[in-house]
Amino acid sequence: MKKILFVCLGNICRSPMAEFIFKKMVKDKGLDAKYHIASAATSDEEAYDGGNPVYPPARRKLAENGISCDVKRAVQITKADYERYDLIIGMEQSNITGILRITGGDPENKVKLLMSYTDTPKDIADPWYSGNFDITYDEIYRGCKALLEHIESAN
Ligand code: 4NP
Repeated sequence: MKKILFVCLGNICRSPMAEFIFKKMVKDKGLDAKYHIASAATSDEEAYDGGNPVYPPARRKLAENGISCDVKRAVQITKADYERYDLIIGMEQSNITGILRITGGDPENKVKLLMSYTDTPKDIADPWYSGNFDITYDEIYRGCKALLEHIESAN
């Protein structure tokens, strides 16, 4: 079982998009039993009182692609998550900084940038500020596809 935690700042846009896109990808390939996938925030902005649902434009973009994320509520990453997961995947470099602040380091080299698995490593811009969820979806899809290919080619 491969355990993957996707992480962004708020856990209402990018990391839930990555979680549910990746879940759909592994399900479509019949690989879902091999993966445990979740997402979390570095901040506590959205993770109070049981957590906020996925931001409506992100939810709509997933729904357009046949993906439901209705069950998701924002949670903040904890120090214990470092041991629970095999890979902790940030959406942008500042998420990596936030993850390391909470985990206290990365001695097992588990913390990665999503787009580092593609041939165009880059940050995924925060759509909370850019408002462009189409670009965000396409980039996250590309990152998830490259990540899955990377893991499966090593197996
Ligand atoms: P996300 O976007 O990190 O992609 O979930 C954000 C959502 C909320 C906030 C920041 C970023 N916020 O500050 O509440």
